[in-house]
This record gives sequence, structure tokens and C-alpha cells, in this order.
Amino acid sequence: MCHAQSQANYDETKVPKFTLPDVLTSFSGNPITNQTEWEENRRREILQFFEKQVYGKVPDRLDEFGFKLLEESNDAYGGKARRKQIAITLKKNKKSITYYMLIYLPKGNPTAPVFLGYNFYGNHTVTNDPKVQITKAWVKNNDALGITDNKASESSRGVRTHRWAIEKMLDNGFGIATIYYGEIDPDKDDFSDGIHPLFYRDGQSKPKTNEWGSISAWAFGLSKAMNYLESDVNISKVFVFGHSRLGKAALWAGATDKRFAGVISNNSGCGGAALSRRKFGETIEQINTSFPHWFADSFLKYNNNERTLPVDQHQLLALVAPRPLYVASALDDKWADPRGEFLSTYYASSVYGLYGKKGIGTKEMPKTNAPIQNTVAYHIRTGKHDVTDYDWENYIKWANTFVKK
Ligand code: GCU
Repeated sequence: MCHAQSQANYDETKVPKFTLPDVLTSFSGNPITNQTEWEENRRREILQFFEKQVYGKVPDRLDEFGFKLLEESNDAYGGKARRKQIAITLKKNKKSITYYMLIYLPKGNPTAPVFLGYNFYGNHTVTNDPKVQITKAWVKNNDALGITDNKASESSRGVRTHRWAIEKMLDNGFGIATIYYGEIDPDKDDFSDGIHPLFYRDGQSKPKTNEWGSISAWAFGLSKAMNYLESDVNISKVFVFGHSRLGKAALWAGATDKRFAGVISNNSGCGGAALSRRKFGETIEQINTSFPHWFADSFLKYNNNERTLPVDQHQLLALVAPRPLYVASALDDKWADPRGEFLSTYYASSVYGLYGKKGIGTKEMPKTNAPIQNTVAYHIRTGKHDVTDYDWENYIKWANTFVKK
């Protein structure tokens, strides 16, 4: 446990009293009573607020988007799956970045719904498949995974297979698409690498105060990956998935890009699904201090000042409505505030109601390992901050009902 984690509040009786901004009351105090008012007024103002004051705006459009099929096979996973490896190139101001997406699709169906999610250490870590290329980008060192010198190598092939239930997905008729997040923006407080510099004007060395941090950049990368995915005739729907910091990115991608058919946030915590006002586990001040590159600089003014935020994270979840949304927590992951993640689903649910969709349906947190699966779904499982088979079994079950149809 790091210093910030050991200093945090984990005592429910010390959670400050607070009033949450109502998702169906506009900033100027008007009640929102139907879908049109939600979409044209309230949704827009909430989205703009998160864009400028929390995650940061993408400064401009790209000049060019391109992709290339690098490799494909009909014989992955013992003949169960097709594999594709795609290079995606984004260009702006004569500069470019290229990142790589690994896709497995179940054979036997002409089109399949796909889970799209970033991985933390390279596409070759999510599978033992020897044909998956190894990222050349900067990766965080990890002794336990055998990653040194910030370089991925053959020795880390397959080290994260336990987080990716790929065979389960394939056996249930789902595909999987994954990208190494560091190829969009390396996860360090350095704005000279990754996608940000493509958009700089002469003399600029970091984004402006209300422009994008890394979470917004990662969300942008997912959204551009969607440009490829929607062009692939073998893919039907795509729903975006992410764990932890990448769960924050998945939620922001789902909020900003309605082409995603659904969103899954696994243990996303502060700046993800958890309510900031509870100040339980990680707080805005702690996240902005440990990870100054994740959010827009404009978010700094809410350090230890949550009361003045005109939004809270339930409104981020509401931006996904009416599309299916699954939020999941882990019992030992107090740092991510499981109760705050659950309550967010509750307070976002009134927007689903405007569309006749069933939100979470109760303010009472479900028991451990007892998922609630409506259009808005939630579970808390036993165990630590991680992605487990239990999580995937539930995502698949829920997706069969709410996303496949
Ligand atoms: C840290 C960080 C969290 C984040 C997590 C992760 O614990 O404080 O906000 O979700 O890393 O990405 O694993």
C-alpha cells in the first residue's frame, strides 16, 4: 500500500455530509422531464463541463486517420477464432502516431459483438498466442512481470491472460479487441510524448489548462479504434471495457462517443465511477497529486474542494444512458470506494428512466457476489483490485441480454 493509500479515509462514519447535484436539474435550476430536454440541454451541459473542467478537451480534429491490416489468421485458439492485427495511424500537423489493435473473433458467426479494452503491458501479455506482436513502446517496469528497462519482450508474453477470459468470450459468441494504452500516451507525467504533441502550435509544450490529460487521450484512442471497428464487416456492436485507470478512460470514451453500444467499468474508482464527494479512499486531491497528467489542469481547483464541483461522477455515468452500463467493484478495493461506485449507478438511473429503461432499481447495495443486472448493472465480488473470471462471466451474461439483442 502506498503512502496516499494508507492515509486515506476508509471509515463510513467519516464520509462528509453532502448533497449531490441532481442529474435531472439543469445548472440553472430547471427540471428536465423528457428525452429531448435531456439530450439537447442537460446532457450537453454536463458533457461540456466534464470536457473542459475534468478530463480536458481534445484540441482539434485529426488531419488524417488510417488503418492497415498487418496480419490475419483463421486458426487462432485451436481453430476457434480468427485473429487480426491492425495498425491505426493518426496524423495531425505533419506528425503521427501509430498504435496496434489485436482482435479475436469467434468463428462460425459472420458478425460478432466485441469487447474493446486497453491492456496495461502490451497486446502480447493478454494471450499466449506466439503470433501476437510485442509492443515497441515505452512500458512501465514491473519486476513481477519480468519487465525491465521500460521495454516489453518475449518474457512477458501471456503474463496477463488471467485478466482476459478470451476463450469464455469466444465460446459465448463474443469477440475481443485490445490495444496497449501506452501507444496512445505513455502513462507518465510527460507531455512531450504520445498523442498530445501532434496538436501543439509552435512553441507549445503542454496542453492548455482546459485541454486533454492522459485519460482524455486514451478515450480518444478508443474512439478512433471504433472508426476501424465499425468498418469491419465481421463486427456487429462494440462495447468498451476498462479496468481501473483504463475504466475511467472507458467511461469517458462511452460518454463522448455514442457509437459504443455499452460500457463496462471495472474497479474504476476516483475519477471513474466513484462519487468524489464521499472522499472515501482516493480523493481528487490525491489523484491530481499522484497522477498530475491524467486530468485537465482545470480540475486542480477541485482539490479538497469537491463541494464546489457542479457535477459528480454519477453524471458521467448518466452520459452513457440509455445504453447498457455495467459498474463493478471488488470487496478489498476500498481505495476505489465500492459504495461510491454503487451509489453513482443509483443516482444516474433516473436518466435511464426517461427512456423507459431499468436503472439499478435500488439504493441498497447488493450483497457480495450477488449482481444486479438491469440495463444498468452492478456487482461487488470478493477479492482485490483486479479483473477476474467472475467479472467476465457476469459481463458476458449481462451482455447476452442487454447488448447482444
Ligand atoms: C492507482 C490510482 C487509481 C487507479 C489505479 C489503477 O491506484 O490511484 O486511481 O485506478 O492506480 O489504474 O490501477
